[in-house]
Amino acid sequence: MTDKPVGFAHGLTNYGDKDFSLYLRRSFASSMGYSRDMLAKPVVGIAYTGSGFNNCHRHFPEMLEAVKRGVLAAGALPVEFPTISLGEVFLNPTSLKFRNLMSMDTEEMIRAQPMDSVILMGGCDKTVPAQLMGAVSANLPAIGLVAGPMMTGRHNGERLGACTDCRRFWAQYRAGKVSDQEISTVEGRLATTAGTCAVMGTASTMACIAEALGMILPGTAAIPAVHADRLRAAEATGAAAVNLIGSKMTPDKIVTAKSVENALRVLLALGGSTNAVIHLTAIAGRAGIKVSLERLNELSNTTPVLVNLKPVGDGYMEDFFAAGGMGALLRELKDLLHLDAMTVTGDTLGQRLDAPHYSFVDRTIIAERSKPLEPQGGLVALFGNLAPKGAILKRSAADSKLFETEGRAVVFSSLTDLAARVDDPKLDINANDIMVLQNAGPNSPDAMPEAGYLPIPKKLAAAGVKDMIRISDARMSGTAFGTIVLHVTPDAASGGPLGLVRTGDRIKLSVKNKRIELLVDDAELKKRAAAAKTAAEKPARGYAKLYAQEILGADQGCDFAFLRPD
Ligand code: FES
Repeated sequence: MTDKPVGFAHGLTNYGDKDFSLYLRRSFASSMGYSRDMLAKPVVGIAYTGSGFNNCHRHFPEMLEAVKRGVLAAGALPVEFPTISLGEVFLNPTSLKFRNLMSMDTEEMIRAQPMDSVILMGGCDKTVPAQLMGAVSANLPAIGLVAGPMMTGRHNGERLGACTDCRRFWAQYRAGKVSDQEISTVEGRLATTAGTCAVMGTASTMACIAEALGMILPGTAAIPAVHADRLRAAEATGAAAVNLIGSKMTPDKIVTAKSVENALRVLLALGGSTNAVIHLTAIAGRAGIKVSLERLNELSNTTPVLVNLKPVGDGYMEDFFAAGGMGALLRELKDLLHLDAMTVTGDTLGQRLDAPHYSFVDRTIIAERSKPLEPQGGLVALFGNLAPKGAILKRSAADSKLFETEGRAVVFSSLTDLAARVDDPKLDINANDIMVLQNAGPNSPDAMPEAGYLPIPKKLAAAGVKDMIRISDARMSGTAFGTIVLHVTPDAASGGPLGLVRTGDRIKLSVKNKRIELLVDDAELKKRAAAAKTAAEKPARGYAKLYAQEILGADQGCDFAFLRPD
C-alpha cells in the first residue's frame, strides 16, 4: 500500500482505520474483475451522460470506448460514472430548471469518488454548462469532451438541420403554406444523426465557449458527432486527462477573468446563443468572476460577427468544421483575445494559436476581420425602466428595421394565457404592436423556458408578417431568430417592472441607445405595484422547493445562491 493516495485510494470511507478502509475498497473494486496492477493505477473518472432521454448523446457508448482507450494507453485506469443527463426536449417544465441539479450531481460525484482527474462527457444544451459549473466548484483537474453536432438531413433537395429549420417550417405551416403531409415528412428529416443541434444553437455555442475557455482540446468543439475525428478527439481527451493527473492545471487556473472575456468575444463573433450569456455567467460565477452586461456591450461594440451559420446566417456546424472551425475563428480574433490565458493542455491560448495548423479557411463560413458579416457583436444588452438589471437582444438574428421603435404593448400574463389567446381571431393586435409575455422568468413556476420566441399570431402570420418585437423574461432557443428581447431582469414573478405592463401601454425600444423603456409614469407604476397580487405559493418540498428558495436572476446566471463561492 502506498502512502500517497492514488486512484482508488483517494478519499477513503472513514471507519477509523485507514488500512482497513483501503483493504475493503480494493476488495470490492476487485469484484469488478480488476487486477492488482490495474487497482494500483491512477484513476480518470468519466462523468458519463448517455441516456435514453438524450438523443444528442446517442453515440456516447462508442465515444466512451475511445476515451477509455486513450486513458489506458496513457497509463491510467478509466472509470465512468453516471450523472444526470439533460435531453433538451424531454424535460418539463424546462431543462434549465435542472441544470443546477446536474451541476450539483457532477460536483459532488467528482468530489466524493476516488479519481485523480475527470473527463466531462456532455453536449446537449444544459449539460456542458452544468458540467463546467460542477467541475469549477470541485476544482479537480478536469477536461471536457463534447458530443459534436448532428449532420444535416435532406428534404426536396434542401438541407435541413435541427432546429432552425424546424422553426422555419413550423412558421410556414402555421401560416398555411405547408401541408399536414409535408410537415409530417419534415418532422422525420430534421434530426437524422446522433449529436447536438446542427446549427449555432446553444449546444454548439457552449461547445465553442468551452474551447475558448480552454476547457476542451483545441479544435474539438465542432467535429461532427459521427465523424471519425470525433473518436480520435475522444481518445486524445483520454490521454490529456492522464496528463492532467498531479498537475496544477485545475479549472480555477483555466476559467479566469481573461478566459471568460475570451469566451464572450467568441460568443459575440459567432452570433451565438443568448442562453450562453446565462451559462457563461453561471460558470464564471462559480470561479468568483462577475460577467457584467455593461462589459458585454463594450465587447460587443468592438467584436464583429464572423461566422455565417444558422440561425444568423446560412451554414451548419458541419460547414464550420470543414471551414476551419474554432482555430480559424480564434486566429481571426487573435488581437482581441487574452493570449496568455491558460488551456487544459498546459499551453497558453497564444501558444495554441501559433502551433502548426492546416491553414485552409472557407471564407463563406468564417469571414475575415476586414470583411465581417456584421461590424458589431451578435448580442446586445438593453437597460431601462422595463429592465433595470438588463435584458438581451440577439441583434444579429433580428430585423434591424425594428431596432428604433415605439409601439403599443399587447400583454400575455403567462404562457397559459399566451396559448389561450394568441391565435384567437378576435385578438386585438397588429404587426406594429409589441408582444409582451410575463411570468416566464426564472422565478416563475415555468422556470424560464425557451418561450421567448412568441409565435406570431396566426392571423398576422397568414397575412405575411414574419417578425414583430417580442419582449419577455423567458429565454429563447439558440436556434431561433426574430426581434426578441429576452431575460428581462428582474423577472415579473419576482416583482420586476415587466409584470406591471398593461395592454395599451407604450414601449420604446432603441438598440442604438441600448434602452428599453416603458412609457408609463412612476406614480402609475407604483399604483400598479401596490395593487399587484401577492406572489404565487411556493412549492412545499423537494427539489422544487430548493429551486424556489435559491434561484438567482439571469444577471447571476440563474445559479443557486448557495452554490456560488461567496
Ligand atoms: Fe440536444 Fe438541441 S436538443 S442540442
